[in-house]
Amino acid sequence: MKYVETGGVRISAIGLGTWQFGSSEWGYGAEYNRVEAGNIVRRALELGINLIDTAEFYGFGRSERIVGKAIRDHRSEVFIATKIFPIGLAFMTGWRARRSARRLGVDRIDLYQLHWPSPLFPPRATMPRMARLIEEGLVAHVGVSNHDLREWQQAEEALGRPVLSNQVLFNLVDRRPERELLPWAQQNGRVIIAYSPLGQGLLSGKYQDSTPTNLVRRRRGSFSTANRARLAPLIAALREIGSRHGATPAQISLAWLIRKPNVVAIPGASSVRQLEENAAASEVVLSDEESARLDSLSA
Ligand SMILES: NC(=O)c1ccc[n+]([C@@H]2O[C@H](COP(=O)([O-])OP(=O)(O)OC[C@H]3O[C@@H](n4cnc5c(N)ncnc54)[C@H](OP(=O)(O)O)[C@@H]3O)[C@@H](O)[C@H]2O)c1
Repeated sequence: MKYVETGGVRISAIGLGTWQFGSSEWGYGAEYNRVEAGNIVRRALELGINLIDTAEFYGFGRSERIVGKAIRDHRSEVFIATKIFPIGLAFMTGWRARRSARRLGVDRIDLYQLHWPSPLFPPRATMPRMARLIEEGLVAHVGVSNHDLREWQQAEEALGRPVLSNQVLFNLVDRRPERELLPWAQQNGRVIIAYSPLGQGLLSGKYQDSTPTNLVRRRRGSFSTANRARLAPLIAALREIGSRHGATPAQISLAWLIRKPNVVAIPGASSVRQLEENAAASEVVLSDEESARLDSLSA
């Protein structure tokens, strides 16, 4: 496993996203939540993945509980990241963090992230509370998610110290973080956590010929017939480059992301097999020419 070391942390370049756990919208069912999800977490740790990302919002606490149960005997191997959803009021921050920690079964959250910017959670109200959680030892690092550069910097100013990471939509079909967020993170020792790094499965190529039925994908314009047709040349290139590396399109998509300094990716997985495939993407090294080809097809 490759690791990103910056800002006082060492996190795996491939992490594990757990929105799928306990969430009805992904539709993976009770057996997945009861058995497979825990197996996915434990196998991830065996393969050297330490970054596990969850949120109080995922399955309304169920994802945190599933993760908590799976890491019970492995606390020292995990860099646990969770998020506070900006509904309610900012003064609830400490109480909500303690509830997340309890569901996770930990006495310290390694990375506590503000899930979205919101006028209900302005940095001047939220970040001093986050700073207090750091002083109390409940939180090790603060992060944000879905913040633009100005919002990220405002959060830092209000926190009075670095906001380690920004978790954003970043993949071969959405490259907006490359404009401002990534250069700033690279220059200042911060981390970009790429969510939906597989375009929610789109970049695996397996949905090219069939309209997906699950609720998450039906809501996305990116899965429309027209968009899938538009992406055909990119998917073909992922397949072709993959065949040279003995890798799948999903692995090439992840390898393209994590070759960028200060970027980690947190793919979700519907099975242990997918998790293993995603972890192995950390060993795929793309050439400059291959990466440039993917750049040109995704511009
Ligand atoms: N901060 C935020 O606002 C935010 C928003 C979204 C997500 N996230 C985080 O980011 C994580 C990942 O994003 P995501 O779940 O939206 O999208 P993703 O990681 O791009 O896609 C995950 C889905 O792709 C398929 N897949 C995974 N590995 C595969 C492989 N090797 N080969 C083929 N298919 C594969 C699986 O679906 P099927 O098997 O059903 O095809 C899986 O559920 C989430 O779990 C969550 O932790 C954060």
